[in-house]
Amino acid sequence: MFGYKKHDIILQRPIVLIGMMGSGKTHLGRLLAKKLGLKFYDSDDLIEKKAGCSVAEIFERWGEQKFREVEAKTIQELVHSKPSVIATGGGAIKNEDTAATVFNHSYSVWVKADMAQILKRVARNENRPLLACENPQDVLKKLMDEREHIYSKAKFIIQSSDGNANAAIKTLLAEINEVN
Ligand code: S3P
Repeated sequence: MFGYKKHDIILQRPIVLIGMMGSGKTHLGRLLAKKLGLKFYDSDDLIEKKAGCSVAEIFERWGEQKFREVEAKTIQELVHSKPSVIATGGGAIKNEDTAATVFNHSYSVWVKADMAQILKRVARNENRPLLACENPQDVLKKLMDEREHIYSKAKFIIQSSDGNANAAIKTLLAEINEVN
């Protein structure tokens, strides 16, 4: 275990952001890490660096299952390393070991966004193989229905909305401070 103090907050564990694709985990995670003076990691970025290609190409070449294996390993390593802020891919917590690690060994944060926001954000990015289909809205709805009960196990929730990221982060840090 580690302790880390900056801006009057002592973190005993990393902060892990979970939630749907396009909910704003990466954006909020970066801001949060900057505010705390911690490193920021995005599990998808690390996987892409390891593989030397994009998430979409990993799915195409090796399939989703291989991606999920590397994703689980990557997140285990990150959670058990130095203090940091970690944004995870939307499907990462489907893996039971990952979910157990995240919920038991981090400040888990569900970045919650409504469907309209998600659709707006995912439209800007084509590196999401699960949405490369006729009707991404139906797929997102299905994934949300499947995953929401897992996301809801997070210790904290950030309501993601355009424009008030700093306020949301301030509230989150106050809540984390309270349980510390
Ligand atoms: C996925 C989410 C993506 C990425 C992959 C699968 C998912 O990450 O890991 O495309 O299953 O929801 P983001 O949540 O960062 O978009």
